[in-house]
Amino acid sequence: MDAVQIDNPKFRELERIIGKYRTIDGPLIEVLHKAQGIFGYIPPEVERFVAKELKIPLSTVHGVVTFYNFFRTQPQGKHVINVCLGTACHVKGASRVVEILREELGIGIGETTKDGRFTLTAVRCVGACGLAPVMMIDDEVYGRLDREKIKKVLAEYRE
Ligand code: FES
Repeated sequence: MDAVQIDNPKFRELERIIGKYRTIDGPLIEVLHKAQGIFGYIPPEVERFVAKELKIPLSTVHGVVTFYNFFRTQPQGKHVINVCLGTACHVKGASRVVEILREELGIGIGETTKDGRFTLTAVRCVGACGLAPVMMIDDEVYGRLDREKIKKVLAEYRE
């Protein structure tokens, strides 16, 4: 462990978890899940740490992190906006919703606003197809979206 990491309780916790998983076959994905749970995302220094501790190539760790979309390489914003890109929402103009959010927030899918308030991600069907097009902000579902409604909802989260 680097000197900086020895003093960091998050790295110490991750080291403990890696120690536990080291004996299991193919522990990489489990370890990365735990790492994301600890850090909130997987930055390059965590990838390096995991590679070193599990004694596997950094390229393997990086490959897994970037392959699965449930791993985040950027910190998440305070609120996560999930735009539904499922079939019903697609038909009802989900891409327009993404476009409006891009205009309103200045970010695209997978990005976080500079003030750290919003992260924009995409999902496939949140089970509210009758309200399409739909987005979720944290655990709240917002449907029948148009520009006016999106602006109004965002304003609530900006307060
Ligand atoms: S497709 Fe969007 S909620 Fe089902």
